[in-house]
Amino acid sequence: MELLIKNARIVDVSQDFAGDIYIVNGKIAAMGESLAIKCETIDAAGKVVMPSFIDMHVHFREPGYEYKEDIESGSRSAVRGGYTMVNLMGNTDPVCSSMDVVNKVLSRVEQVGLVDAHQCVSITRDFSGSDISHLEEVDEKVVTIITDDGKGVQSNKVMLDAMLKAVEKDMVVMAHGEDEDITPFSFRLSENIETIRDIELAKYTGAKLHMAHVSTKEAMEYILQAKVQGYDNITCEVAPHHIYLSSDESNYRVNPPIREMEDVEAMLWAVEEGYVDMIATDHAPHTVEDKQNGAPGMVGLETAFPVSYTALVKSGRISLSKLTELMSRNPAKLLGVKKGELKIGYDGDVVIVDLDTLKAVDSSEFHSKGKNTPFEGMEFYGEVLKTIRKGVVVYSKEESQ
Ligand code: DOR
Ligand code: ZN
Repeated sequence: MELLIKNARIVDVSQDFAGDIYIVNGKIAAMGESLAIKCETIDAAGKVVMPSFIDMHVHFREPGYEYKEDIESGSRSAVRGGYTMVNLMGNTDPVCSSMDVVNKVLSRVEQVGLVDAHQCVSITRDFSGSDISHLEEVDEKVVTIITDDGKGVQSNKVMLDAMLKAVEKDMVVMAHGEDEDITPFSFRLSENIETIRDIELAKYTGAKLHMAHVSTKEAMEYILQAKVQGYDNITCEVAPHHIYLSSDESNYRVNPPIREMEDVEAMLWAVEEGYVDMIATDHAPHTVEDKQNGAPGMVGLETAFPVSYTALVKSGRISLSKLTELMSRNPAKLLGVKKGELKIGYDGDVVIVDLDTLKAVDSSEFHSKGKNTPFEGMEFYGEVLKTIRKGVVVYSKEESQ
């Protein structure tokens, strides 16, 4: 199985050149100018080829909430957005607290065959907030990240024990920073307090801590202080909606909430200065009815690249190479996969994008079951034309129309 993509601008974290890329048996086999190989060929003149994206924060809702999204619709949404790997959260029904659920999800993902996935196990059994004994049974060759995302871990001692267990099993603790007792008083204080707590515990234990959807300027400040102090066990992500929307223009319900302009500017600054490790969507599909009843969250897979490209690269804040670091290379590193860079021997997972055309978000085109987006009708640059996974075209704009 061979695929040649020709005449593209080829961009990853460390290169930006005009040329061709050749994928054989799922792996990148050659890159250069004017590769002359006879095989299936895509002419990408005028377009950009980058490593496909990897999303550290995705809710596919299976098992239990398939009416919001399932593994098939979620996978189709991912590839339409240029993603070929997703990290799945465990707030399903049942909660993912066992290898049984992990294995069922991963075999369904494989059967659908569009993306690769990592399935997180919950930090506390069934989100009890207290019992972590199930972590004993986790196969750390399959599960490398644990999280109670959707909720914070309320007890300091439970989080301490979880981090100690994570060190022992070499797993990453992905934290949704929210102190539920404080949330009714202040969403801001709630995120800030739990972020400090998690950072202190990570400093104390040495555990790998990944802070999910950082949204306040104070939380970002605590994270960058820890980074400046040399704690390279701490990483963080920001979501496209937290770098693009402020409470001046949107009150779309999401958790953590859309913050103030000062926070948006702090997130953008932290991205530019290199304190943000990755952009992750927190893709959280809900039905119209569930949104009307107050469910927090928005779909993100199909808007993440245009929103991030427009906010960060088109605006001149960072280079396209830097964006591929945030959307592909760094998540690949945290997940421990040979993806996210265009290197010989790496997986042949690439996207072909058009950077020049302004396009309005139209949720009726989404492949996700969730149409819940605050970006409806807004115009962005950066359209995904094709997504290729292991040398196979898994999404093509023309064919999906
Ligand atoms: O807005 C959110 N929605 N934040 C979360 O942490 C969970 C997510 C969901 O699962 O719907
Ligand atoms: Zn969360």
